[in-house]
Amino acid sequence: ETLSLKEAFSEDFLIGVAINNRVIEETDTLAVGLVAREFNSISPENVMKWGELHPAPDVYHFDLSDKYVAFGEKKNMHIIGHTLLWHSQIGSWMNEVKDSAVMSSYIENHINAVAGRYKGRIYGWDVLNEALNEDGSLRESIFLKVMGEDYIERAFSLAAKADPKAELYYNDYNMWKPEKRAGAIKLIKKLQTKGARIDGVGMQAHWSLSGPSLEDIEQSIIAYAELGLKVMITELDITVLPNPWDLEGAEISQNFEGSEIMNPFPNQLPDSVQIQLAERYENIFRLFLKHKAKIDRVTFWGVNDKVSWLNNWPIKGRTNYPLPFDRAFEPKKAYERILRLKK
Ligand code: G3I
Repeated sequence: ETLSLKEAFSEDFLIGVAINNRVIEETDTLAVGLVAREFNSISPENVMKWGELHPAPDVYHFDLSDKYVAFGEKKNMHIIGHTLLWHSQIGSWMNEVKDSAVMSSYIENHINAVAGRYKGRIYGWDVLNEALNEDGSLRESIFLKVMGEDYIERAFSLAAKADPKAELYYNDYNMWKPEKRAGAIKLIKKLQTKGARIDGVGMQAHWSLSGPSLEDIEQSIIAYAELGLKVMITELDITVLPNPWDLEGAEISQNFEGSEIMNPFPNQLPDSVQIQLAERYENIFRLFLKHKAKIDRVTFWGVNDKVSWLNNWPIKGRTNYPLPFDRAFEPKKAYERILRLKK
């Protein structure tokens, strides 16, 4: 009989998946079954984001995040927290803050309330998400504007205090880019020099059929591990659709909704692309296996193609096929090629 993903890679790294409300509340029983069978780590796709659980200064909605943690415990999963501090999806009131001490106390209240609530039950927290620009400089988020770069160390120190046993991560996209990698290394070294605890780096992996190159990914895995940190591949999916900015002569501002060039596979993925996707996944996992001593976890960003955020980004209402399971929860060629590496 065939092994599941989590069984096949059990001696290499954790195999995780981001889950949404319909899994957390167990209303989508097929999805729940798949999650339990194939994965041993979960990440909350949305329910632990600031804007979802802390919409106003003294208002918290812990209903879904409580259920998320309970779900993970019931299924015996490694439970990831995502994310304590992110410039996007914060309560809108946060964007009005002008005073550094006020901002600092809001951040303190948030991290204490959230990380404190689940103390001892979260395996690792994405403490800080997407704080860097593409050129490696610090993003001009409301946190940076109001507090300066001290907010970064503050977030990690608060998280370490609120949940001393949880691992603490910095998580971002395009972490394979040499300039962004240099920025991430600088950010991490600063934290380490100041004595703040950081345990790992999350490389979000929203990749495509053609990029990034395996070399760039590999250089980053090696560089982050050299800092003494665990490396996590945190948000893996591979788009098979064109992006507007790659289209010659197209204006980003152009409205592509309903456009055939932008949604070329509305009914099914042609075999040729299915195979390309499978080969891309195989190559990527071969690289992960080569560096399994450095990689702690590989997490897919969604249970199957149907629920992927990539159906709605950067254009709404497309039909994308970025994950190893199709819309009927059946394993795709990509799934077989990933597993074949362990045979
Ligand atoms: O369920 C709400 C509903 O209550 C609300 O009224 C309505 C209007 O906004 O939409 C629903 O919320 C949407 C939510 O997904 C749940 O489906 C949000 O609009 C939508 O913006 C949100 O998108 C999420 C996105 O982060 C922004 O938070 C995606 O599902 C999620 O996959 C994506 O994940 C991010 C990672 O956290 C960080 N890295 C990048 C990654 C992809 O963007």
